[in-house]
Amino acid sequence: MRLILAPMEGLADHVLRDVLTRVGGYDGAVSEFIRVSGTLLPFRTYQRICPEICNASRTPSGTPVVVQLLGSDPGWLAANAARLSALSPHGVDLNFGCPAKTVNRHGGGAMLLGDPELLNRIVHSVRHAVPADIPVTAKMRLGISDTARALDCAQALAEGGAASLVVHARTRDQGYRAPAHWEWVARIREAIPVPVVANGEVWTVDDWKRCCEICGSQDVMLGRGAVSDPWLARRIRGLAEPEPTHADWLALLPFIADYWRGVQGKVVPAHAPGRIKLWLGMLRRTWPEEAGELHSILRPLRTPGEVSDVLRGLSIPGLNVSS
Ligand SMILES: Cc1cc2nc3c(=O)[nH]c(=O)nc-3n(C[C@H](O)[C@H](O)[C@H](O)COP(=O)(O)O)c2cc1C
Repeated sequence: MRLILAPMEGLADHVLRDVLTRVGGYDGAVSEFIRVSGTLLPFRTYQRICPEICNASRTPSGTPVVVQLLGSDPGWLAANAARLSALSPHGVDLNFGCPAKTVNRHGGGAMLLGDPELLNRIVHSVRHAVPADIPVTAKMRLGISDTARALDCAQALAEGGAASLVVHARTRDQGYRAPAHWEWVARIREAIPVPVVANGEVWTVDDWKRCCEICGSQDVMLGRGAVSDPWLARRIRGLAEPEPTHADWLALLPFIADYWRGVQGKVVPAHAPGRIKLWLGMLRRTWPEEAGELHSILRPLRTPGEVSDVLRGLSIPGLNVSS
């Protein structure tokens, strides 16, 4: 079984990756995408988006982190991957799934799924630009608006040298809407000789079980489910109660305080409250009452000082929030 924490730009930055991997259960994590377009990015760009790279490419609790690149030009992607390799990332992942309009307009992300031959050239050039001991992997959706070329794309990526493939089992046009079409993961697994990791709509232990049955594999990447229930990977491994409990919520509070400290160290003060509200908004899915109540208390607050006052009032064990 492999459980990987998904890349989530604007949601799972290194602060949340630290918290979620400290709660535990993950074999690895992938950074948010770093956009490559016609320049050689400086080292500081990689270090800003994936500071784990300065810690032997691991989160503080030791979970390996792979750096994700997004772009459409094989030469520039290869040149940037070569430079990134000097920082010894745990791996280089290529994004072929991003549905964002700004990314797709420039032919990047999911748009590349219309051109399997280009996918092949991209992976091939990046593979050749990176030392053999650094894996090059890829993450794809099932297509742009239909699944007609899903197998072609997967084969092109494997043939180009991808060491493994994450399949987000939806087309670009399906966005993030349920369901995820896990049966396609099974088809892709049969069509290519490299390991395939299933991704999409795993929110609970039952979802994970159904996903595994359909895909025929226990390797899953967890995205929004991991953010909504930080114990999800541990539940799947049988290391926490299979269903969320009030005790889990109480045990999460110190991690929420850690997150708040980390966020304040990272973003400008005006943005910090929005970040914790975003996470609490997602935690409501798992703990509607507890997270819901804290979320509604924080919702009107605008300054970090006000948020810190509320968190202090919760008497969280070990809590030492600054304002
Ligand atoms: C806010 C957000 C940001 C995302 N950013 C990235 C990204 O940077 N790179 C990537 O490959 N996928 C990205 N994704 C897609 C996720 O990695 C994952 O494939 C998707 O959310 C489906 O998994 P889930 O249903 O478990 O959330 C993002 C998803 C969300 C919700």
